[in-house]
Amino acid sequence: MKVQSVGAALLAGVATCAAESFRPIPTLPASIDNGENILPTIMNNSAVDAQAVCPGYKLMHMRETKSGVDARLYLAGKACNVYGTDIDQLQLRVQYQTRDRLSVQIFPANIPEGQEPWYIVNDEQVQRPLDRMPVGPNGSDWEFSYVASPFSFEVKRKSTGDVVFSTSGTKLVFENQFVEWKTSLPSNANIYGLGDIISENFELKGANRTIYAADIGDSPEANLYGAHPFYLDHRYVKVNGKTKGYAHGVYSRNFHGQDILVREGGITWRTIGGSIDLFFFSGPTPAKVTRSYVTEIGKPALPQYWTLGFHQCRWGYANITELDDVVKNYQKFQIPVETIWSDIDYMDQYRDWTVDENTFPQAEFKTFLDGLHAQHLHWVPIVDAAIYVPNPSNGSESYASYDRGHALDVFMKNEDGSEYIGAVWPGFTVFPDWSAPNVQEWWTNEFLAWFKEIPFDGIWLDMNEVSSFCVGSCGSGQVDMNPVHPPFSLPGEKGSIIYSYPEGFNLTNATEAAAAASSSKAQDAYNSKVNPPSTVTTPYYQIPAVTPNVRNINHPPYAINNAQGSHDLAIHAVSPNATHHDGSSDYDVHSLWGFLETKATFEALLKVFPGKRPFLLARSTAPGSGKYTAHWGGDNASTFYYMRKSIQQALNFGLFGIPFFGVDTCGFGGNSDLELCSRWMQLSAFFTFYRNHNIISANSQEAYVWADVASASKTAMSIRYSLLPYFYTLMYHAHKSGSTVLRALSWEFPDDENLINNDYQFMVGGGLMVLPALDQGVTKVTGYFPTDGSTTWYDWYTGAATFSDGKNHTVDAPLGHIPVYVRGGHILPLQAPALTTYQARKNPFEILVALDKSGTASGSVYIDDGESQNVKDALFVALRATKTSLSLNGVSIGNLNNLKSYLTNVATVYVLGVSAKPSAVKVAGSENCQFEYDSQTKKLTIKLPSSFVYSKGKQQITWA
Ligand code: GLC
Repeated sequence: MKVQSVGAALLAGVATCAAESFRPIPTLPASIDNGENILPTIMNNSAVDAQAVCPGYKLMHMRETKSGVDARLYLAGKACNVYGTDIDQLQLRVQYQTRDRLSVQIFPANIPEGQEPWYIVNDEQVQRPLDRMPVGPNGSDWEFSYVASPFSFEVKRKSTGDVVFSTSGTKLVFENQFVEWKTSLPSNANIYGLGDIISENFELKGANRTIYAADIGDSPEANLYGAHPFYLDHRYVKVNGKTKGYAHGVYSRNFHGQDILVREGGITWRTIGGSIDLFFFSGPTPAKVTRSYVTEIGKPALPQYWTLGFHQCRWGYANITELDDVVKNYQKFQIPVETIWSDIDYMDQYRDWTVDENTFPQAEFKTFLDGLHAQHLHWVPIVDAAIYVPNPSNGSESYASYDRGHALDVFMKNEDGSEYIGAVWPGFTVFPDWSAPNVQEWWTNEFLAWFKEIPFDGIWLDMNEVSSFCVGSCGSGQVDMNPVHPPFSLPGEKGSIIYSYPEGFNLTNATEAAAAASSSKAQDAYNSKVNPPSTVTTPYYQIPAVTPNVRNINHPPYAINNAQGSHDLAIHAVSPNATHHDGSSDYDVHSLWGFLETKATFEALLKVFPGKRPFLLARSTAPGSGKYTAHWGGDNASTFYYMRKSIQQALNFGLFGIPFFGVDTCGFGGNSDLELCSRWMQLSAFFTFYRNHNIISANSQEAYVWADVASASKTAMSIRYSLLPYFYTLMYHAHKSGSTVLRALSWEFPDDENLINNDYQFMVGGGLMVLPALDQGVTKVTGYFPTDGSTTWYDWYTGAATFSDGKNHTVDAPLGHIPVYVRGGHILPLQAPALTTYQARKNPFEILVALDKSGTASGSVYIDDGESQNVKDALFVALRATKTSLSLNGVSIGNLNNLKSYLTNVATVYVLGVSAKPSAVKVAGSENCQFEYDSQTKKLTIKLPSSFVYSKGKQQITWA
């Protein structure tokens, strides 16, 4: 066995790595991920203000079109060329596309084809709202107006009379690497969205929103994994002495790196490429805005039913026995578990579509997976974005997935045509190019072939920002050193032992906390000895002056506030100069990589599971991702802070059209503890995607690890599993109409100004409010109980009416209890819970009717086989209640006999808010039913005859 000479200055030494290899695995030096030290332009006080020096544009040659107007914009003076080269001529295109949607586009004009020095989003890659049947200015709720010189424009919503977007008094700056426009905001505007970012406040005034997909642990205010240039603006006005809320949405369809600066008086938009491609959605309710937006970018997928069950994951399940033990422990403690996940541990040296024959021997693993499937349980493995490059000088090493991809020419390239080689977990790697002609075929075939050996149930897509642990094509000429260890120590390795705990751990576990604190100090001392903090301050890289018509894509003259490393776009990511088959550079499409990978994987899984809905979980997302995938909030930490922020994350991803969302429950980084994990297991039970996930080497945090967490989890899970028909029906509505599932209170009570910054409570659909305890050491929680005049809130646990007065109230929330309220006016379909979704679907249904003050309520239930991609048989039942009746009105497609096993009987109806005990309850006007009435809580419980099932047509239950 030949030991490679690691002579290259590149390699710092030899680290131990668990993976078996033909030689010790050398560690890449930390410096390999150092880029330039860039000063973001917004932090640079001496940066030129483009508004002060640029000439703006003047509008000419306006002409009417079928859908609106077209015009030319000419540079109105001498080019300023501040952060790029000014474009002389632009095209303005205004389209009144539908009554509620307006498109305003400004893009370079008169450029000979093929000579465009920039990239504009490819409509085939990212769906563009189409101008199918334009309504024109008269049919629209929007009015576009302009000033010709210097050109500015305003967008006004006719129905409410307010100007929602105005560049008046500012200049348009349009250069090949810098586009800036500024809009004013009135003082009553409240802005939400613009992510993927976790921020101080839910409402964004004062926030810098940088958009550039980054592999960066969840740091507050940092540009995280995805790109969602969409905002919801919610404004409150007084109408006849009453407050009214009006909302609209703005989608800026540009995916270049960008800074969006949201301030009191207005927004500054700065992007380093592409065009201005704005869409306005008129609402005026928040719900209508998101429905319209999400419909245009792509309505979310309907998930397979089982994916709504509880998922257990961790980085560090080292072999089959460990996976098996985790499942068995959940079962032993009677805690529901639906899916066990594998992180990169299962792979052979972190290579996609392989298993480690020592720890996950294929034959044995297959038997294990077959065993899971026999119990209707599931397994989902991670698949990373980067593809290992086998070492050519190690004859015994082969990696066929790479070889096949290389033969089909599917990887990203350097400018000289060689493969771009970065570094990720396995060592030096290449990256699929989603524009390569053969890429889909290769990607699909890798999954198809692997599935034959390892029957997975879904795929978890990670590191797809796309991440690389070094700057540039660092592996070029170095692959005969492969495999190499990442340029940092992995959690658990020397110098990276995890000693952190949630806030307040020192109060609840003083001795342990003190020991951890002192070990942590010792580790810090060790680390600073090995890697002494530099005393040299690195000067900021001076970006060279603009060269006319030449783009500096490695160091664009305008430096966005990228949070990764020292702000260089190339740090910890594939670098801007990596190229694609379609001619684009990473610079132009960087933030779309994960989205395109997700799309390709969705297509692949349609082939792997013919006829079934693919189940994907992806980290990097863009508008339209919801059509293909669920999303998790990335690498959070085991702290109360991140638990609280998970609500904001879920609400934002609701706005972005990805309602299937959850976070690493109990926290990813750091050690969790009993109190945090207990609270978090309960909170996440009300998120659509429910998964516990943990970093390698941190303490175990499965729900059974602490008795109190086990019991808290069971309590919350039994509610979640009862609510599965409700969750599934909400996902169905989202899939059909683009509606949200987890909702901010302000979206459901749009006229209540008190809710502007409420992201510590949330609604599940319109009918359920969750008021979680989010702070360490508390036993009570204060929350707001909004009302629209006829709202009654009912305590989930007792069924009794509670505060419904539009005020704050403090309620008991001892550990193990999560306050949940049902909103009057809503009907929730339920089903008796079980330990798996498979079993739960065999249980009888129940219906929870919560009457509002006027004595009415409505809801629905949607039932299908829970897995077909093209649903052939389905039943939708509209539910409507009055003070004395519940009517069911079913419509169906296909043959309901095929759904027989899912159409179990409806056993019980609960009616909340019934003022007096009825003398009789009847089904269909004839058959008497048993019932109970609790005069304290005013809850009526009706036992239906065992023959009662959801069906098509009308059914009625009456009480009087
Ligand atoms: C990334 C993922 C995390 C995963 C880890 C190892 O940090 O976000 O969930 O556990 O990689 O694969």
